[in-house]
Amino acid sequence: MSDTLLQVVILAAGQGKRMRSALPKVLHPIGGRPLIGHALATATSLLAHVGSKARPVLVYGHGGEQLQTALADVECQWSHQVAQRGTGDAVGAALPLIEPVGRVLILCGDVPLLRERTLHALLDTPVESLAILTALVDDPTGYGRILRDGAGAVQAIIEQRDANADQRAVREVNTGTLLIPGPRLAGWLGRLNAGNAQGELYLTDIVAMAVADGVPVLGVPAASEAEIMGINDRSQLARCEREFQRRQAERLLEAGVTLRDPARLDVRGEVSTGQDVEIDINVILDGSVELADGVRIGAHCILRNAVVQAGAQILPYSHIDGARIGPGAIVGPYARLRPGTVLAADVHVGNFVEVKNSQLAQGAKANHLSYLGDADIGARVNIGAGTITCNYDGANKHRTQVGDDAFIGSNASLVAPVSVGEGATIGAGSVISREAPAGALTVTRGPQRTVRGWQRPRKKRSE
Ligand code: UD1
Ligand code: CA
Repeated sequence: MSDTLLQVVILAAGQGKRMRSALPKVLHPIGGRPLIGHALATATSLLAHVGSKARPVLVYGHGGEQLQTALADVECQWSHQVAQRGTGDAVGAALPLIEPVGRVLILCGDVPLLRERTLHALLDTPVESLAILTALVDDPTGYGRILRDGAGAVQAIIEQRDANADQRAVREVNTGTLLIPGPRLAGWLGRLNAGNAQGELYLTDIVAMAVADGVPVLGVPAASEAEIMGINDRSQLARCEREFQRRQAERLLEAGVTLRDPARLDVRGEVSTGQDVEIDINVILDGSVELADGVRIGAHCILRNAVVQAGAQILPYSHIDGARIGPGAIVGPYARLRPGTVLAADVHVGNFVEVKNSQLAQGAKANHLSYLGDADIGARVNIGAGTITCNYDGANKHRTQVGDDAFIGSNASLVAPVSVGEGATIGAGSVISREAPAGALTVTRGPQRTVRGWQRPRKKRSE
């Protein structure tokens, strides 16, 4: 097999004016990933599938710097189309990076839902043929129409603006995805001209050339209309996002996850799930999220880059970012876990508790209104309501260490760097700035006083 059996060109130079955005169109996200990222992922996976070592060629025009920054870690080749003179001109811009062998797949950077298995069907056509991914749509407005002869053989593609009334009535359209014989590509592109309604070089004109050259032309229908949907405006972006999310939910349901409402879940990254996971409504899963067996996620939670181990429960309205949650732990409602939080087994973090860059060992509890930052909390420690770590001195961050089985009374301030020994008790309201020894009670609050006969101030009479 040749290393360049298949090459892929992704067209993404269009301006995307209708998005009315400062961001290049193909950087708008679907499922948390830029449009162009979807096309690139499909291309990369397909190239690997057929064993081609070619890297996809990305034809860009506007926002080149923004694109290169956003796609810094993607393996692709870049080709600049200086002026947007049509899809034929765009493929021409990629030509110096294309070898005249094998097959060249043209994808549009603004069609994110195209499935790889649909492209497999396109690749199943004979190597010497020109294959077009087509779709039968209810409303073909704006698309290029597939023109067939009486025997059903494809003759040409005619663009909307160049089509007559009969041609416009055709509901079979060009999806923009074409598979072209590599040895023919340069010759056909060289023969394109801009003698059409838009004064552009239409890639689609190569279809009639192929027919004239006796090259077999095949139309391969896509399985669904949603799959070929291109994004030109925010309304299409929103519809595409819903379809993408519908697919994500479907995939989770198939994997055995209970979704209280598949329409009220958003997945913006990679989610892996164990058995009998339950997800309540209005949950957002972002980045890399692992939910182990029996995990339950309450309503209105946001989880980003999180690992939730078996049997843990995240109660409603919790916000979790960059945290590991141990087996059987209970988090929330209204908890906020920030990056670097590691909760061991059976830890409880309750309402209005914020934890950052801290570890809580097995069975530790912080159930109400706390801030634990840069802290190492021992096993079975009880953190009383209102307790905070004063981890920041205005210049540097410092750690707080609390030994196993310590009991921190309510409303304590632990002024870091500081440590509390094993089994120590801290009296409520204490401000602890020196080591609190193991096993002892440490308390810093002043003694209680009563002033008898004291009068409350009274309001002065106004004149
Ligand atoms: C194109 C097809 C049409 C098809 C439709 C599917 C042509 C002439 N027409 O029409 O048959 O039904 O897609 O959506 O090919 N692009 C560039 N440089 C350019 C022009 C376009 O990179 O100079 C890119 C765009 O960014 C986009 C893709 O090519 O990703 C398609 O361009 P677009 O302007 O959307 O083509 P349509 O007119 O929709
Ligand atoms: Ca288009």
